[in-house]
Amino acid sequence: MKLLKDSIVRINTLSHLEMYGYDLLDIAHKVEGPFYLYFMSAIEERYRTLKEHLPENVDIFYAVKANPAKEILSLFKTLKSGIDISSGGEFFRCMSAGILPEKISFSGPGKSNKELSEAIINRVFAISVESYREVEKILEIAKSTALTTNIMLRINPTRKPERFLLKMGGIPSPFGIDEEAAPEMIKMIKRHDLLNLRGIHVYNGTQCLDARAIIENITDTIEIAKRLFLHEGMELKHINLGGGFGVPYYEGDRELKLEEVCNGVKKIITYAQKTSPSLKNTQFILELGRFLVAQSGVYVAKIRDIKVSRGKKFVILDGGMNHHLAASGNLGQVLRRNSIMYPLKIRETNELESVNIVGPLCTPIDRIATDILLPELRIGDFIGILNSGAYGVTASPLLFLSHNLPSEVFVTDNEIKVIKPSNGIQYEEYTMSSSV
Ligand SMILES: Cc1ncc(COP(=O)(O)O)c(C=O)c1O
Repeated sequence: MKLLKDSIVRINTLSHLEMYGYDLLDIAHKVEGPFYLYFMSAIEERYRTLKEHLPENVDIFYAVKANPAKEILSLFKTLKSGIDISSGGEFFRCMSAGILPEKISFSGPGKSNKELSEAIINRVFAISVESYREVEKILEIAKSTALTTNIMLRINPTRKPERFLLKMGGIPSPFGIDEEAAPEMIKMIKRHDLLNLRGIHVYNGTQCLDARAIIENITDTIEIAKRLFLHEGMELKHINLGGGFGVPYYEGDRELKLEEVCNGVKKIITYAQKTSPSLKNTQFILELGRFLVAQSGVYVAKIRDIKVSRGKKFVILDGGMNHHLAASGNLGQVLRRNSIMYPLKIRETNELESVNIVGPLCTPIDRIATDILLPELRIGDFIGILNSGAYGVTASPLLFLSHNLPSEVFVTDNEIKVIKPSNGIQYEEYTMSSSV
């Protein structure tokens, strides 16, 4: 087991797993049921390190979808980060955390009239428009409220990004306006004074660990901006460069070389601003989710049963894909690979054993690890899945099979705060009146 390779994880003198100086087994004994544990200082450090390496004219926007926990949103508020939302629900969560609308950018397909109205009335930083119809809807609301609305044109580029695990642009896509159709759209937008076109937004893909691929993608985005706006003689206030910065989730993955990415970004931007008058005063945005929060989190579940079936050992946990879809490989993974996980108590063993780790659901897709090598495990032991701070609780089918929800535990310098699920999730029942 390549344990100590990971600098944030170590085995302490009690043979317990320790992260950021905290004994995970000690915490696990104090929390009821499976839980997510987040180290808030790790998120803060990640944000600050990135900010330090980026030039001043690059802002970071946190993508709420990665983890919308109030504690995490409050931290990004304190850090004065920009925020990227993709629904009215995320907007509500941000408002509840005290984030100012002027820090919020709203993207995503199929925005409802209500969501758009709320964003416009609250004067968000910008709405990224994803279709022609959406521009029309925004215009209608802007007219009825007489409010000038900031928009960014989300572009679906002609070129596909290389080496991004999930590609969202450069292909036929529900996201953004095809680059070929953008010039017409810009003309249409410019005809309306109530629409303030702040710039463009390209979000092309996610989970990229290759610095060069990210730099190429950013270079392409700037080229698109130049192509679209140079002839318009229009100054672009903002370019949202997207992001897609990845996290090493699996054995053998290498960390993204952050310095290389930041130096590349700096170089491209400096050159672009020197050579293109329309970009001279542009402010750039990087929109990141998992890169900022994934490594701060660990998901912990307990072993309920161990059995052997036809020579294979199965370790059954009290939580699985219902709490952590991504760890089961069912959230956009092309090839199923084992996430990095360790028992919270390491038993002295000469040999590691190959086991299959599954959750408690009656479906074969609830598989957390296949033929993973771990030290001896016993019923009642805890397993911690690392890199679980992003796309965890809210990206999982929590209600499937009606098991209990996981707790969330937030570690700050001053306290360890536990948010425990209350009696399941309540639905409201009503009878629809029939018009017939
Ligand atoms: C528009 C947009 N921005 C940001 C993100 C965040 O991606 P990640 O968490 O990989 O950084 C996504 C993810 O799908 C997205 O669609």
